[in-house]
Amino acid sequence: MNPKKILIIGGAGYIGSHVTLEFCNHNYDVVVFDNLSTGHKSNIDNRAEFIKGSILNLSEIDDVFNKVKPTTVIHLSALKAAGESMINPMKYSEANIIGSINVLNMMVKHNVKNIIFSSTAAVYGVPQYLPINELHPLNPVNYYGFTKKSIEDYIQWYAKLKGIHYSILRYFNAAGYDVNGKIIGLEKEPQNLLPIVMEVIMGERSHLNIFGNDYNTMDGTCERDYIHVSDLATAHYLSYRKLINNNENFLLNLATGEKYSVLEVVNGCESFLGEKVNYKFTDRRLGDPDLLYSDSNLAFEKIGWKPQFSDLKTILTSMYNVYKKNRN
Ligand SMILES: NC(=O)c1ccc[n+]([C@@H]2O[C@H](COP(=O)([O-])OP(=O)(O)OC[C@H]3O[C@@H](n4cnc5c(N)ncnc54)[C@H](O)[C@@H]3O)[C@@H](O)[C@H]2O)c1
Repeated sequence: MNPKKILIIGGAGYIGSHVTLEFCNHNYDVVVFDNLSTGHKSNIDNRAEFIKGSILNLSEIDDVFNKVKPTTVIHLSALKAAGESMINPMKYSEANIIGSINVLNMMVKHNVKNIIFSSTAAVYGVPQYLPINELHPLNPVNYYGFTKKSIEDYIQWYAKLKGIHYSILRYFNAAGYDVNGKIIGLEKEPQNLLPIVMEVIMGERSHLNIFGNDYNTMDGTCERDYIHVSDLATAHYLSYRKLINNNENFLLNLATGEKYSVLEVVNGCESFLGEKVNYKFTDRRLGDPDLLYSDSNLAFEKIGWKPQFSDLKTILTSMYNVYKKNRN
């Protein structure tokens, strides 16, 4: 078994392609397994091998484990639209829960001991205190968050029963693109604020809808914790090193502890990019908390991780450059 062989499931996606780049830069032998439902083949670093397939297809995933013989699986593939998960929970049960159980069962079958799993701030639900830390109660308010919480539970049971080691990483709001412009395939049908802001700037949308301006925040719009994807990628690498060297299981929030309101993002586009973003205030959405942010003290303590690219200027300029390149 090649100790540097890593299987990245969902490695063609927005975050997965940055994680793939990070491991390739550290000279790992990376294989990406992805069905390209939302990912782009062109986003996969050309030092990595690509195998197309789905975690919902048992023979495809069995073949991949047989062929690759990884020491570690990084599992990023999932559906992630919270709103859609409330309308079509069946689709999310299948893609997220059943797909992840398939991955875990294959790990047991092929004696693969390490998993790094993409979880989310959505497992916490409405904050009971701020900043959120890893001890905050888990009470998801959408089905997407529930699927991630369930997968965390399955992983922890497999750790107890089958000796699997895990690093569960709960991302806050992923944003930005590789600052060297190596990844330029855009997220398909984005639901998050920042890509939508970019689409307004590029003239693909007439305006941004801001859902509510009467929240209990400094300017009345919701405040969120944005974390640059390259910082997320570094955290995967550091947590992988820790997992391999210490065989210790851990669960970490990946966030900055900083928060920006929707209007601060809009104003940032004007000051950092020289671009005006048209917007309209509309009704609040159900279930949006006023504020959502987390400290990352535990990630620093456990894996020595500190965000480097997650200031608003770097996030916005790295996204803007990629969107502009795509539109040329
Ligand atoms: N983007 C965020 O802000 C955010 C925040 C918290 C957690 N997450 C989690 O991070 C992970 C990655 O998110 P992303 O933003 O990169 O999303 P993404 O949609 O860009 O990436 C998901 C990747 O998984 C692939 N995929 C989907 N179903 C598959 C299947 N059945 N078999 C194989 N591949 C499949 C897709 O083609 C895509 O390449 C997800 O698990 C998501 O829930 C994302």
